[in-house]
Amino acid sequence: QNLHSDMPDTRVWGYENSYPGPTIEAYKGQPIYVRWINRLPEKHFLPIDKTIHGAKDNPEVRTVVHLHGLNVRPDSDGFPDDWFTPGKSALYYYPNKQQAATLWYHDHAVGITRLNVYAGLVGLYLIRDEREERLNLPSGEYEIPLIIQDKDFNDDGSLSYPAPNNNGVEPSIVPGFFGNYALVNGKVWPYLVVKPRKYRFRILNGSNSRSYKLRFSGEAGRILPAWYQIGTDGGFLERPVKLDSLSLQPAERADVIVDFTGLENQTFTLINEEIPPFGPPLPEIMQFRVSGTPVKDNSSLPLILNRIKPLPVKKAKQRNIEIVVGQDELGRFMFMLENKKWTDPVTIKTKLGNVEVWNIINTAAAAHPIHVHLVQFQILNRQPFDVQEYTATGTLKFIGPPVLPDENEKGWKDTVRAEPGHVTRIIARFGDFTGIYPFHCHILEHEDHEMMRPFEVF
Ligand code: C2O
Ligand code: CU
Ligand code: CU
Repeated sequence: QNLHSDMPDTRVWGYENSYPGPTIEAYKGQPIYVRWINRLPEKHFLPIDKTIHGAKDNPEVRTVVHLHGLNVRPDSDGFPDDWFTPGKSALYYYPNKQQAATLWYHDHAVGITRLNVYAGLVGLYLIRDEREERLNLPSGEYEIPLIIQDKDFNDDGSLSYPAPNNNGVEPSIVPGFFGNYALVNGKVWPYLVVKPRKYRFRILNGSNSRSYKLRFSGEAGRILPAWYQIGTDGGFLERPVKLDSLSLQPAERADVIVDFTGLENQTFTLINEEIPPFGPPLPEIMQFRVSGTPVKDNSSLPLILNRIKPLPVKKAKQRNIEIVVGQDELGRFMFMLENKKWTDPVTIKTKLGNVEVWNIINTAAAAHPIHVHLVQFQILNRQPFDVQEYTATGTLKFIGPPVLPDENEKGWKDTVRAEPGHVTRIIARFGDFTGIYPFHCHILEHEDHEMMRPFEVF
């Protein structure tokens, strides 16, 4: 609400009459119930691709809410097929047993998630705990969520999303959607007036497909604000990581401290250096305008934030999961996990409490942000392999040593960048609930077009 923009209003969907939805704050150890009520209109205002699984025989307007990153029972997870129509509701139970973290909630209805999230069904969910309180980080008006999404608009200012063309093929399904405008908290190219002091920003890449490489830029020759990442998807890092740039794939979050101390009367732009594989680059995201009066800053940036115990690799069961390129009935490309579709039978079954290493073998030409429900995992490494050899013979021939995760990835994660031509290794303990959960690519166009699979904890 403190972000300003000069653009006219556009119709969107939201939670509690707000886009993005209200930031829900929960406290560790205090479970909450949320009744999600569908008060959406009867017609969708974005074009629905009826050739996609789940979109053909089901009502146009339906939603289900997934709380991304939460350790939760399957019947409160927002399973893609658990959608409900306008007038209906669902009561979900959130145990909040995990440590302080930046989670988020969004639509997850099968076949139309990309449209519902694009329409505005997204919000943040913060878990707080005692440790966080002791850290004395910037809080109150100095702790601000920044939800970044890219969008396109029609001439009349309404939201635009690619419609299926006359072959019935939606052009955004492959490779994805890349909009011309950056929105932060629902505002186009906004600016934020800040004081010359430390701020804590909860940055979420809530975009359908776009990844970002964020950096501060300012007047030539001037000092830029120092910034540090203090938390990942699932909690605090062990120590702050000084940032030069910050890369975020869809669904990834970064908890950061930005220090504007001593930078009175200067304007900084948050720029984006990521060049997408398709579609327009988006070089500017938002501005920070530092006001002119020095202030007292009592907040801290502690040197030690958390203790993260590595999960036991030796005891873990190894599992290979391929990312491959397939083709649908209409002959258009699609990316797949396990070379299977969402509706194919579950093949990944693990016992409650088991620790598993998932070797995500990406044979495709681009990175895919792979998200696993239920758990927070650790990234072990990424190792390049010979894709041609693998595709021809099924043998993994490595062409380089394993590369450790980036410094700011050495924390709890629920979404990982699976690099092309690499095996990306993650490790997770599958607790605390049994049932069937999804894992999927968080490029929503891919997710809706079969790049999603179930796994079972029994
Ligand atoms: Cu953020 Cu299964 O989703
Ligand atoms: Cu999720
Ligand atoms: Cu993908």
